[in-house]
Amino acid sequence: MSKDLEKGLSRGLTNYGDKDFSIYLRRSFALSMGYSKSVLKKPIVGIANSFSGFNNCHRHFPELLESVKRGVLLAGGLPIEFPTISLGEVFLSPTSLKFRNLMSMDTEEMISAQPMDAVVLLGGCDKTVPAQLMGASSADIPAVQLVAGPMMTSRHKEQRLGACTDCRRFWADYRANKVTSEEINLIEGRLATTAGTCAVMGTASTMACISETLGMSLPGTAAIPAVHADRLRAGEASGIIATKLIENPIKPSQIITEKSVENALRVLLALGGSTNAIIHLTAIAGRLGINVNLKKLNQLSDTTPVLVNLKPVGSDYMEDFFYAGGLGAVLRELKPLLHLDTLAVTGETLGDRLEQDSGYVDRKIISKFSDPLEKQGGLVALFGNLAPRGAILKRSAADETLFENEGRAIVFKSLEDLANRIDDPELDINKEDFIVLQNAGPKSSSGMPEAGYLPIPKKLSAKGVKDMVRISDARMSGTAFGTIVLHVTPESAVGGPLALVQTGDHIRLSVKEKKIELIIDEEELKNRSEAWSNSEPSLEKRRGYDRLYASEVGQADEGCDFSFMLPVRSLKKSTGKKIEIK
Ligand code: FES
Repeated sequence: MSKDLEKGLSRGLTNYGDKDFSIYLRRSFALSMGYSKSVLKKPIVGIANSFSGFNNCHRHFPELLESVKRGVLLAGGLPIEFPTISLGEVFLSPTSLKFRNLMSMDTEEMISAQPMDAVVLLGGCDKTVPAQLMGASSADIPAVQLVAGPMMTSRHKEQRLGACTDCRRFWADYRANKVTSEEINLIEGRLATTAGTCAVMGTASTMACISETLGMSLPGTAAIPAVHADRLRAGEASGIIATKLIENPIKPSQIITEKSVENALRVLLALGGSTNAIIHLTAIAGRLGINVNLKKLNQLSDTTPVLVNLKPVGSDYMEDFFYAGGLGAVLRELKPLLHLDTLAVTGETLGDRLEQDSGYVDRKIISKFSDPLEKQGGLVALFGNLAPRGAILKRSAADETLFENEGRAIVFKSLEDLANRIDDPELDINKEDFIVLQNAGPKSSSGMPEAGYLPIPKKLSAKGVKDMVRISDARMSGTAFGTIVLHVTPESAVGGPLALVQTGDHIRLSVKEKKIELIIDEEELKNRSEAWSNSEPSLEKRRGYDRLYASEVGQADEGCDFSFMLPVRSLKKSTGKKIEIK
């Protein structure tokens, strides 16, 4: 009996002090759901379903779920769906990132505590895929990620529209009085018109490509539009593969390795992908004890070209990427730079896949390695006395003329301060200044929102100013663009140097040297550090998950994961202490 206790319905029994009684009772209750006894003997594939009425991107999941179930049944397994937390990007306050770790814990615990031999992870919207991959990595049973797929584009007059780069573009035009309120209201109903994730290479699509590169999703599935019939075929195939993995198990820890993580970083850079993805990949890798180092990111960035011409970096949309050849075409271009012996859920190596994977490539969307859109990767990490542990700039979505630059800092102490003063006609600011936002990092009460895309003051945007250097410890939506320095680490809320910047200070940015420096006397910086006090509410004034989060969340360079979620062998203390500046 003991061998059977590790399989199917008999896995991980509820403890009543009598194993035979536990399985008897479980089977009896399962029979109450109408299963026959023979069906209950089959291997079980759990399906982690993150459908929610608060998640527009997942609205097609009921149909997608059926396709996964069909695949599991065809392969001889028993599919059992279970719900998990869902994270609909725009429906969560203060920001979805705050709940990514909660969803990852939910996913891990429900995979581990319930009787399943393998799992299909049904996710898509920005934070759901990293949360599921983090949870599945920690649970470490065979797992296949199936993503929602991107939305289709829509139309406004002669223009194509896709969430959400165009949302920001039109909103900026509205702020600059170039679009009327009637027109912006009309556009509101045209930006997101189908099921699926944002239509550009934002965080969701970047994470879908990363999951496929890591080997956790089936080849060729990252870019299939949500409403395309191929998405349902991908669901069926994912169910089949998950069932097959029960006989020949390959666990996430065999798939997500140092080499596959490096491949994923290369792909992120070649896509000109979302800055959020570096945080998520760090967190996923961290769950398996793999360290993602920002200095390494820079080394890879220097030798990885940008190949994909999609918004927000380029001009096109995810559906174009799918028809242009998708991720397979990008991987083939990057082949000389990739580790080819990494393993996928299919049991094949990346090298095996790239031997077979070929086909039409639209070179307007996916460039050749020898003729890239940009010679260097889309992201660069900056270091210096303002960001001793690093900051991120998406250089592929920024204005190059601002890259080697010094400016006067105009400081906003919080998001509230920003909202109150940024459009004040009396604000002393001009286009050469650097806008600095403090207290928007992971431990702040704002929870590191996607607020790093700081608005250009109305009085400047009305004069045609489209970009300025903007610096914060916040994140930026993967669909946004601009010369925006993000994830400054350590953050303001732990007394990092960003907290010490004052209006009128000067900051030097050099993308060439990968530097971000506050031009200040060392003694003065030390004095400011000694005088600094935290303006965030103390832990005693916070409760529940909010308190757990503030207490345990790591910094951006640690993937903003909870320190206690790392594997036991790499557990370390929380870094939320005041940083000493020497
Ligand atoms: Fe879900 Fe953009 S809102 S992916």
